[in-house]
Amino acid sequence: MSQSPLPAESLGFEFADAALESRVRTGLEAVERALRDAARSEAPFVTEAAQHVMVAGGKRFRPLLVLLAAELGSEPGAAEVVDSAVVVELTHLATLYHDDVMDEAALRRGADSANARWDNSVAILTGDWLFARASDLVSDLGPEAVKIQARTFGRLVEGQIRETLGVSPGQDPLAHYLSVVADKTGSLIATSALFGARFAGASAEIQETLRAFGEEIGQAFQLADDILDVTSESGQSGKTPGTDLREGVPTLPVLIFRAQADPAKAEDARLLELLDSDLSDDARLAETLGLLRSHSSLQQAEDDVRRRADDARKLLEDLPEGLGRSALESLCDLVVTRSV
Ligand code: IPE
Ligand code: IPE
Ligand code: MG
Ligand code: MG
Repeated sequence: MSQSPLPAESLGFEFADAALESRVRTGLEAVERALRDAARSEAPFVTEAAQHVMVAGGKRFRPLLVLLAAELGSEPGAAEVVDSAVVVELTHLATLYHDDVMDEAALRRGADSANARWDNSVAILTGDWLFARASDLVSDLGPEAVKIQARTFGRLVEGQIRETLGVSPGQDPLAHYLSVVADKTGSLIATSALFGARFAGASAEIQETLRAFGEEIGQAFQLADDILDVTSESGQSGKTPGTDLREGVPTLPVLIFRAQADPAKAEDARLLELLDSDLSDDARLAETLGLLRSHSSLQQAEDDVRRRADDARKLLEDLPEGLGRSALESLCDLVVTRSV
């Protein structure tokens, strides 16, 4: 019997074991159903706006991580594992609505962003509504889960705020960038791994190892996303390439370039000039992307992602050997090689 593709399959994750695949697939299917249920309101427009980005696509990386982390517990099939995966995906989805307003992004998951489809107010309020749904669901998981979720969300938002404020005078731009990445993205991916372990009944020690792993792989995931903003085509990523550049958000390839640029070289001088200019102009943005794509700073950024993924993989050495640990090791490779 042929199986229908799950959103998580767009990530290209391959399972080494059929029983593990079947468990995770069952979990992801339950997550999909619960996500749609959670995004249903008595007001038809709210349902439409809340499901718009949800059904457009998405890799479901965080639910996948919840389910794989749960493999390290005694009860990977516990209902709370799926519930917590729904909570993290709803939280993530809500941040996408808000992020697209902040970034003035027109495309998300290959569809019109909510702000483009309707307007900023609809996008912001729908994001808020999705956060409310996530809060409602997490309250069923107990006070400790509510606290973890609240702190995670607070950290994520602080990361977004600090990205918006930009680097402070005298602060190292790379250090600022990395701390933003940790807060805006490492936070929720760390909690995904922690929730999976926790609700599958893993020991406190395993929960902590997986939380730390999620933090590290989450940061690598964002660095890879920032590279894809330079290298990918929108048909692949479902987003508009060069959005970070256009918005003037310095990311890893640009920060590495700026730290090493040699104004005596014509190419570097031109790239510096472009980066300091208004990149809302399509021709200038395309030229900037072209120069960055062929610059050695891009390979250095890719090397950084690989190193971080390797650091994440090392953390897994503290876990018992087995299928769950191997699957998480594969996830490290995937973060390095992913093209979506
Ligand atoms: C996009 O996240 C925002 C980041 C934190 C990089 P994803 O790359 O997980 O987006 P979807 O869910 O697959 O659309
Ligand atoms: C946003 O980072 C991360 C969030 C916490 C939502 P990006 O701005 O790089 O995410 P994309 O590229 O729009 O998905
Ligand atoms: Mg964005
Ligand atoms: Mg991005």
